Amino acid sequence: MRPDLVPALTSARPPGHARRAPLVSPALFDFWAARLSPAWSWNRPLGRILGIEPAASDAVSLLIRPNRHFRGFGPGQHINVGVEVDGRRLVRSYSPSAVPGRDGRFRITVKKIAGGKVSGHLFDRAKVGDVLGLGEAFGELALPPPDGKPSLLLAAGSGITPMMALFAGLAAQPNPAPTTLLYFTRSRDQRCFVDELRAIAKRQPALDVRFVLTRDAARAGDEAEGRLCASQVAPWLAAPAHVLACGPTGFVTTARDLLGGHAASFAAESFSPPVHETTDTGSVALTLARSGRKLQVPRGLPLLEALEAAGLSPASGCRRGLCNTCACEKSAGSTRHLLTGEVEHEPVSALRLCVSSARSDLVLDL
Ligand SMILES: Cc1cc2nc3c(=O)[nH]c(=O)nc-3n(C[C@H](O)[C@H](O)[C@H](O)COP(=O)(O)OP(=O)(O)OC[C@H]3O[C@@H](n4cnc5c(N)ncnc54)[C@H](O)[C@@H]3O)c2cc1C
Ligand code: FES
Repeated sequence: MRPDLVPALTSARPPGHARRAPLVSPALFDFWAARLSPAWSWNRPLGRILGIEPAASDAVSLLIRPNRHFRGFGPGQHINVGVEVDGRRLVRSYSPSAVPGRDGRFRITVKKIAGGKVSGHLFDRAKVGDVLGLGEAFGELALPPPDGKPSLLLAAGSGITPMMALFAGLAAQPNPAPTTLLYFTRSRDQRCFVDELRAIAKRQPALDVRFVLTRDAARAGDEAEGRLCASQVAPWLAAPAHVLACGPTGFVTTARDLLGGHAASFAAESFSPPVHETTDTGSVALTLARSGRKLQVPRGLPLLEALEAAGLSPASGCRRGLCNTCACEKSAGSTRHLLTGEVEHEPVSALRLCVSSARSDLVLDL
């Protein structure tokens, strides 16, 4: 059985005849197809790992071939990636570092986080041939408008992944506006894509890359030292540029403070988990309406984490309130939005489990 034979499993529909039900259900097809090839699926986007390469001392790049159900993405966007770790299906967001080529292959680059379940698995244990679940693309970072204004790309640590895709996307334009990528890492061995970035800058005179080291000393002509500060970005304070920034929350906040008010446009994303500051204490009763299950959950903790701690696996992705995968209906009770601190008293409303905590007893449509 091959994926391109899927239509043979549905009833044929000669002109003028009403649609008949498929001969097998998508779930049954997936069950048997997965036994023949794990990347075959009736309608789920999946990708097979075709190659694995070290990208830095603490990062690895995975080349992925998606099946035909994957809808693709643009440079700078993220996708949710599902992986089975110790028998549990976990999902995290990754910003591909290379967009699909003509054959549909694309690349994600994963930095290993200490104690991280998915990054640890992908860094240490992923193998060529493994199949990953793939989600739809989302995100705010995109190629700047072609209005001739300069662009400044700021990346720190694993925040280089969308910037790599954007830098390559700009280089592929016929007459790109002047663009500089400032790429911050602590040390030289933590840098990804050094040769690739230098080759683009050499080939395309409008594009420039600076490797900024915060711990090692600068040696090469395209290296500099120090943290993100006003002097590093002085030229773009004087001439408004399209600014795109990605890195840990502190880096993104500094970028916004320095350039947000001066830029022609400003877009930024942080990969690090949001900090939840709440004084809510104690616990409340949570009823899961569909399963009828009742739990005691702590106030102040994201509902997603509270449900996972109880052994449940609600759908999730970015875990930052960005992708909407964990959206769910609430039919009673009040919650707090952990990023804004706002309390939602409206009893019937939708919420995102990853950025909401319980304030009172709750009923969720789960
Ligand atoms: C939109 C988006 C795009 C992303 N793109 C990339 C990418 O291209 N490459 C990449 O390597 N990562 C990327 N990430 C981060 C990625 O989604 C995971 O958060 C990361 O791989 C850690 O997952 P984990 O399962 O290993 O860690 P978990 O098991 O979930 O967490 C383990 C510990 O590490 C902390 N932690 C989790 N994530 C981070 C982080 N990013 N930085 C510091 N501490 C963390 C947790 O709070 C926890 O204490 C992106 C995140 C988002 C939201
Ligand atoms: S997991 Fe993405 S919004 Fe909650």
